[in-house]
Amino acid sequence: MIVDTIATDLARSATQIPGLLGAYEIVRADSFEWLAKAEPCSIHAVVTDPPYGVLEYTPRELEKMKNGKGGVWRIPPSFDGYQRKPLPRFTVLRMEDRIILRSFFKRLAERLFPVAVPGAHVFIATNPLVSHLVYEPFVAAGFEKRGEIIRVVHTLRGGDRPKNAHDEFADVTVMPKSCWEPWGLFRKPCEGRVQDNLRQWKTGGLRRISAKEPFKDLIYSSPARGLEKKIAPHPSLKPQSFMRRIVAASLPLGEGVILDPFMGSGSTIAAAAACGLRSMGIEISPEFFEMAEKAVPRLARLSEKDLGSNGSQI
Ligand SMILES: C[S@@+](CC[C@H](N)C(=O)[O-])C[C@H]1O[C@@H](n2cnc3c(N)ncnc32)[C@H](O)[C@@H]1O
Repeated sequence: MIVDTIATDLARSATQIPGLLGAYEIVRADSFEWLAKAEPCSIHAVVTDPPYGVLEYTPRELEKMKNGKGGVWRIPPSFDGYQRKPLPRFTVLRMEDRIILRSFFKRLAERLFPVAVPGAHVFIATNPLVSHLVYEPFVAAGFEKRGEIIRVVHTLRGGDRPKNAHDEFADVTVMPKSCWEPWGLFRKPCEGRVQDNLRQWKTGGLRRISAKEPFKDLIYSSPARGLEKKIAPHPSLKPQSFMRRIVAASLPLGEGVILDPFMGSGSTIAAAAACGLRSMGIEISPEFFEMAEKAVPRLARLSEKDLGSNGSQI
């Protein structure tokens, strides 16, 4: 069981799922406050999907999403008879939103750095429009950029004709239709050589898929659907098949603790539990925290068969 020494958390829940090896602890708290009090060099990997529009998870924007009117959430056009779920409209970010976004990631990177052990990897979900505002503060805080994971997925973003001028500009698309999601990959510098760091801190590299196959940076992965969405109806749920691949890669020796400071409904935590890895999740919203409490053990128990063939690597 993960032992945590912070006494001021609003709510917490520590669990060992019977039949699965990965123990986890989830905490309802503001992750910036939590990180400020966390023990230095106590986290071995970070796998997270932050609110990178920053605005979309404010109570005001969530209320607007529920009412279906205004704000950063939009309903993508329905087609094939399906009504789509709301998506945040990142293209509306103004200069001041960009400044807020950049300072959010600066604060995050600066708070994560001392808490991570040398050689710890950070996997951070973003999107092609704002990734530069996410990556640069990580480098400025002292992390090394180690690459990007490309999740090949139809995001439903872009590909539209100019608004209210569809007929006039029938052959024009304003932005490419986005078919991929970038995940920035960073590492806190190792102490000495990678092999020294692996011996000392159990970090510095990425776990291979097999003896013959290294971890690769291109992963095909459809959005979470069906059973997963029923178990965890979070607007930004990530699919287990993809999350299990990246959490498995994040701890090269399978030892240490994975942190998700923006846990949502707990897809990272469930993936870690399913892979037999220890993890820690932080979520600020009482509603999503409760959702995670129920969803994590259920998502973690889903078998490869339940998840289908989603999540293949080239
Ligand atoms: C993009 S969602 C993550 C969804 C998650 N990947 C899943 O599969 O359910 C980001 C989450 O971060 C939470 N959040 C936003 N600001 C936070 C903060 N300061 N501390 C902790 N959680 C926060 C939001 O409530 C939201 O649930």
